[in-house]
Amino acid sequence: MRLCLVGFGSVGQGVAEALLLKNKFLKKRYGLNVKVVAVADSSGAALNQNGLNLEKLLKIKQKTGKVSNYPNYGVEGVTALEVLDEIDYDCLVEMTPTNITDGEPARKLTIKAIKDGKDVVTSNKGHLALYFPKLMKIAKKNNVKFKFEASVGGAMPIINFAKYNLPSCSIESIIGILNGTTNFILSRMASEGSSYEQALKEAQELGIAETDPTYDVEGIDAACKSVILANSIMELNCTLEDVDITGITNITPEAIDLAKDEGYLIKLIAEISKDRMEVSPRLVDKNSPLAVDGTLNVAMLKTDLAKNITVMGRGAGPLETASAILTDIINIWREK
Ligand code: HSE
Repeated sequence: MRLCLVGFGSVGQGVAEALLLKNKFLKKRYGLNVKVVAVADSSGAALNQNGLNLEKLLKIKQKTGKVSNYPNYGVEGVTALEVLDEIDYDCLVEMTPTNITDGEPARKLTIKAIKDGKDVVTSNKGHLALYFPKLMKIAKKNNVKFKFEASVGGAMPIINFAKYNLPSCSIESIIGILNGTTNFILSRMASEGSSYEQALKEAQELGIAETDPTYDVEGIDAACKSVILANSIMELNCTLEDVDITGITNITPEAIDLAKDEGYLIKLIAEISKDRMEVSPRLVDKNSPLAVDGTLNVAMLKTDLAKNITVMGRGAGPLETASAILTDIINIWREK
């Protein structure tokens, strides 16, 4: 399977690292031979139809910040859209930063790849939250696979889990924590007395925050994920505008301490149902299944037949998110 990776920030580099770790495993267990034929970032791209050396590419990116510095096969200034015309590939792995204004560049890249008959895997949330029904329709019409497990909850299985493990059930509501950065910040503030600024900086250093961290702390990232879940596994046709959003920027250390004294934690909670779409800080009992720490995400699904099911896992992090991307790639391979 020939991959074209677009976006080479923390998630993109996580995917390259995961491929290096798992290459032999993928061949042995699934007979899947993965070759990365192009990698694009904002500087340009590295393209080689015979496959790029990912170890070398990671070193160059970490040293110079640009994939276009890859010897012999680096091209400065070429756009990701141009790359899609330059190279023969089977699957676009789209990992550019989320943009909730117009969903670009993810929207154009995805539509182009789909119309060219390529499968697409994405970790991006912007274009999905803004144009979900349209993108699904185009993918169906062009008979390609379009998968996005990594867009919600990082390594926490939820979209594929609902589709493949609960296909007999209707999901009536989901309540959970869908943003790792804010959960990390609130956990650090509660357990170690870290300041908000210090905890946010640490989250950025860990590569878990969005390129624009206001998306995390203002609740926008969790709202995008709520919209993706509502559309993909709950058959609710909604967009970002339907979500009432309050972030964590007004949560003070005093409020966190006060809650703690009463046996509660403050968490950024997403609630998704046909009657209510909301992301807001709420008090959570310290013994509740929602009381998960650090970068963990959690989702309590209320279903008709299976009743209540809770899933939990690391919601952010380069390798964690890469695990979900690899899952989608493997599933495309299996389905074909
Ligand atoms: N910034 C996101 C988070 C990354 O913290 O959850 C994973 O979508």
